[in-house]
Amino acid sequence: MKVLVTGGAGFVGSFAARHLVASGHDVVVLDNLCQGHRGAIDERLLVVGDIADTELLGNLFEKHQTEAVMHFAAATSVPESVVNPGYHYRNNTVNTLGLLETMIAHDVRKIVFSSTAATYGSGEANQVMPLKEDSPKNPVCPYGFSKLAVEWMIQDFCTAHGLSYAILRYFNACGASEDGAFGEDHRPEHHLIPLVIEAVTGKREVVELYGDDWDTRDGTCLRDYVHVEDLALAHQIALETCPEPGANADGRIMNVGTGTGNTVMEVVRAVEEVSGRKVPYRIVGRRAGDPASLVASADRLMALGWQPRFVTIEQVVETAWEWHNSHPDGYGDSIG
Ligand SMILES: NC(=O)c1ccc[n+]([C@@H]2O[C@H](COP(=O)([O-])OP(=O)(O)OC[C@H]3O[C@@H](n4cnc5c(N)ncnc54)[C@H](O)[C@@H]3O)[C@@H](O)[C@H]2O)c1
Repeated sequence: MKVLVTGGAGFVGSFAARHLVASGHDVVVLDNLCQGHRGAIDERLLVVGDIADTELLGNLFEKHQTEAVMHFAAATSVPESVVNPGYHYRNNTVNTLGLLETMIAHDVRKIVFSSTAATYGSGEANQVMPLKEDSPKNPVCPYGFSKLAVEWMIQDFCTAHGLSYAILRYFNACGASEDGAFGEDHRPEHHLIPLVIEAVTGKREVVELYGDDWDTRDGTCLRDYVHVEDLALAHQIALETCPEPGANADGRIMNVGTGTGNTVMEVVRAVEEVSGRKVPYRIVGRRAGDPASLVASADRLMALGWQPRFVTIEQVVETAWEWHNSHPDGYGDSIG
């Protein structure tokens, strides 16, 4: 299929784009490099530009006869979304509205959208794990709301315009390629595994862990860590099983997670085991809005044939360690 991958120079998008190319799809990447890296993606696939530029989008759709869009481009930092909600709503919600309208105008009627576990948020109603796709939605930050609004828009465009879709709600994306060549490089970094590795390699003095009095097996928060290569496979399956667009177009919303959570302290111990070093950490207070546990039921995706290959936290950390150890400056560019 001819696919435009927005945000394909970023962490998850670059893995998905490589995976699509390897499975025979025809890929063009559009990324404004605000967080992406030239080194993360084959330069021949990359168009540097912004999804807000609907004229550019339209030209790309026509030039490449695009059949589907895989939409990763977004602002992704939860803490940043609290202090700068306007940027998150504009980039994630408003710009996606422009993308959807441009798709319809150019008869591109398939989309695979990167949504998030942040759409579930927290609250008593969500304490039953694992979370299913129809579990209540109580986002606690503008980032979660900005993504949930896009889910609604996509479903409305399906009803009105015959758009077909797959919405993938990922839990904690992590890991790196097994050869250590590609990995995670967010600036600033806000994900646990890279932060713990930065602490163990001395890149940061200490990693702060938010609370050890949660109702979990060791008192630290429990999350579902899904390897980025498994996520890339989920995208391929979602794309290839996307219903045909048209009058009776339909779509699916699917969680992507392993269904087996790990606590923050288990991540710390895994990094210690893999690196052979002690992690300097400090327990600080809970963060507002953090739920104790977030674990996915991925039954819907598994019914389509998806199975995660990386099932233990040690397997995930080994790949992340290989990447960070061999790339102490990430992709070595100067974004962020
Ligand atoms: N990483 C996770 O744990 C996680 C979890 C759930 C959902 N997601 C979602 O997955 C997607 C990818 O996340 P990621 O971790 O790879 O983030 P990332 O920041 O590494 O990738 C996002 C990419 O989008 C690009 N981008 C942002 N705004 C753009 C714009 N206006 N025009 C063109 N390009 C733009 C950035 O340069 C970057 O390369 C995001 O939509 C995110 O919300 C990520």
